[in-house]
Amino acid sequence: MCGIVGYIGKDQAAPIILDGLARLEYRGYDSAGMAVYDGEKVNITKSVGRLKALSELTHDGATMPGTVGIGHTRWATHGAPSNVNAHPHFNEKETIAVVHNGIIENYLALKKKLTQRGYHFVSETDTEVLAHMLDYYYKGDPMEAIIKVLHRVEGSYALGILFADFPGELFAVRKDSPLIVGQNGEGCFIASDVPAILRYTRTVTYIENQEIVRLSKEGFHVYNVDAEELEKPSVTIEWDAEAAEKAGYEHFMLKEMYEQPKTVADTAGPRIRGNDIVIEELGMSEEELLKVKKIHIVACGSAYHAGVTGKYVLEGMARIPVEVDLASEFRYRDPILEEGAMVIVISQSGETADSLAALREAKERGFKVLGIVNVVGSSIAREADNVMYTWAGPEIAVATTKAYSAQLIALYLLAMKFSRVRHTVTEEEFSEMLGDLRRLPDQIELLLNNKNRIQRFANRYIAAKEVFFIGRGIDYAISMEGSLKLKEISYIHSEAYAAGELKHGTISLIEEGTLVAAVATQSSLYQKIISNMVEVKSRGAFVLAVTCEGNREIEKAADYVIYIPITNRFFTNSLAIIPLQLFSYYVAVGKGCDVDKPRNLAKSVTVE
Ligand code: F6R
Repeated sequence: MCGIVGYIGKDQAAPIILDGLARLEYRGYDSAGMAVYDGEKVNITKSVGRLKALSELTHDGATMPGTVGIGHTRWATHGAPSNVNAHPHFNEKETIAVVHNGIIENYLALKKKLTQRGYHFVSETDTEVLAHMLDYYYKGDPMEAIIKVLHRVEGSYALGILFADFPGELFAVRKDSPLIVGQNGEGCFIASDVPAILRYTRTVTYIENQEIVRLSKEGFHVYNVDAEELEKPSVTIEWDAEAAEKAGYEHFMLKEMYEQPKTVADTAGPRIRGNDIVIEELGMSEEELLKVKKIHIVACGSAYHAGVTGKYVLEGMARIPVEVDLASEFRYRDPILEEGAMVIVISQSGETADSLAALREAKERGFKVLGIVNVVGSSIAREADNVMYTWAGPEIAVATTKAYSAQLIALYLLAMKFSRVRHTVTEEEFSEMLGDLRRLPDQIELLLNNKNRIQRFANRYIAAKEVFFIGRGIDYAISMEGSLKLKEISYIHSEAYAAGELKHGTISLIEEGTLVAAVATQSSLYQKIISNMVEVKSRGAFVLAVTCEGNREIEKAADYVIYIPITNRFFTNSLAIIPLQLFSYYVAVGKGCDVDKPRNLAKSVTVE
């Protein structure tokens, strides 16, 4: 969702910016643009569509000479995707250029005031007000102008700003939208995310809310809104640029699916110590864990689906009541949080606006928040009281796969920790669970190796109009994720239903040939789900079953069966999701969809 890259240094800025923006493509965008100072003035080039168009227009940056510049990929919020709405935006004199990630909430009021003062707007964007406001307040001191603007705008923003009067400098500022700064001795960089600059430097500084950065080719300084300089630590990024590249796979999504055995091992491994689970980051003693009376899990999209699985696992294994909320609902529903409540916010990116707002809501009410987060140093990771990282590495495909799998593991670990402390499982059961947890990576590998069979099956459904996913209990949780995967990347309408609900309306949607994917991994519920499969099959549905090895009985009710290896009943989602991911992927590939960047979607949803 909108990407920013800026450079000032010894090298040509435009090729570096284009390269950086390409590495942020996963965030989702519909237009792109760059502003570069050429020694006399600031030039802007923009284009609608893929970044490739901007590269072609500028001959890979060659037509925009200069060693300082800012670039942007825009994901339209205010105003359609168009050249005029694409960033950067200029003031009327074309001396100040701005790129913006986020939303200026009071832009209409500000636009009205600026219009009354004689400013003319060319775009429909909220961002353009920033360029004109900077112009209005600029009296020769960029910092002064930026600070005055910050005091007047409401909303979220990460900004990169060029002042033609200060060609040896680049300015940046953020509030509630991610921004990092890097330097390598030859120049300095700004970006929305680390992969954008990893090729040039591993030394990164995370900019906090309402901090202003002033960069030159020698280095950078960070100030607060009172223009006082701040000491900012830098961190060294350990992971490789290759980790964020395709490594020979056709799509990032496929590569990331194949990374799941490693991801699962990386998330679980360091927290399994002998015959115990140790989650130091929890920051809670056994006594404190015992005091937890209820858990609230809050998240969006797939992270929410991981939370729904978490509910079944935590309640089933550790007997703690769990409530799961969509973050966009939680933040506005005045949730009831009582003494003994623990709040867990799950997020891959750590930047999802609703999840961040939910975290703040819980903290404001005096509750501690545990973040289950993938992106190190992200906003949720920094604002949560404690962070359990999922260690999935950079996830580039918009549709999550490995980060979701890692979230499941984090939740299993938590449930196991709670169950041990609360004595809800025996020592023997606990040891068996540990064994099953350790075996998951190999079992996932096995399922991935079965991809050709699933691809053949998926090819039959390229023309499907709709697909239903059904399950009971924990299998309902995985049905939700399976359904989301399919619809988001293949654009086939799909819904997940608790199988017992079919009779209450949904079954009327079943027609001759409708594909119904039934997830049946819970032996205690086999008979129940088999009845539901028979119900849809007798109304013409083609039934695909995902079940555990040995459950041959299901073959009488299913048209096609995918078996998953035997594991603990609480861990089956980690295996059942693999064929469902592969199915969605191959349907989308078969349809010729842009698998890694589905239409209208963004990887990091930093606006509400
Ligand atoms: C679906 C998907 C989204 C995210 C959701 C939350 O494949 O990726 O549904 O799960 O936008 O994002 P994070 O986890 O970054 O908070």
